[in-house]
Amino acid sequence: MNVYWHDLMVTRQQRESLNTHKGCVIWFTGLSASGKSTVANVLDHILFHQYKARSVVLDGDNIRHGLNASTEMLKGTHKEDFARRFGLGFSAIDREENIRRIGSVAKLFSQNGIIAITAFISPYRIDRDRVRDALLPGEFIEIFVDTPLAVCERRDPKGLYKKAKAGELKGFTGIDSPYEPPISPEVLLLAGEKTPESLAEEVIVFLKNNQILV
Ligand code: ADX
Repeated sequence: MNVYWHDLMVTRQQRESLNTHKGCVIWFTGLSASGKSTVANVLDHILFHQYKARSVVLDGDNIRHGLNASTEMLKGTHKEDFARRFGLGFSAIDREENIRRIGSVAKLFSQNGIIAITAFISPYRIDRDRVRDALLPGEFIEIFVDTPLAVCERRDPKGLYKKAKAGELKGFTGIDSPYEPPISPEVLLLAGEKTPESLAEEVIVFLKNNQILV
């Protein structure tokens, strides 16, 4: 292989010394409409305003407009050929690639002292574990947003559960595509019952107890 790795001149420790926290990946996982994005954004807001932290939110729906643009989204554009080769849908293999790319981006942020907050369904345990395994011990913080399917279906902000149940949308997570919950997440959020603010505070407590946030 003719591609080489360059060592960096500024170390992770040097970058982290400028901040009030360590670099890490806070990985939210859960069903669509479970509250991942909402809690991720409230957490980001608290980190920014109260802790002057350097954090970034990578959100499934947003990332699928750009870096991981969907096959559907690119259809009919001059990028049709590109879409056929690189566009991502919701098959198991496309979801795997979605998570692989985001895991890699999140790692770049984390290695540079930033708190990368991700909000993807990431339904497959093996895909999440691959991201964990590529990071240092303690660097990957898995947050299971455990909202009962019935609650997600009731919320249905985009009307996608309704479509899936009517058979108009195939392969929808929780309906006709699986969701594999984490076995031992760092944080378990009972998100059907509590406010986004109190859930974000639970994450803050974890970060402080584990000396990620000082
Ligand atoms: S993941 O499974 O690959 O992690 P991701 O978080 O990027 O999914 O995107 C999920 C969002 O895509 C959902 O919140 C929903 O708005 C939309 N979506 C469209 N089709 C599907 C589908 N078949 N299954 C799940 N979500 C879908």
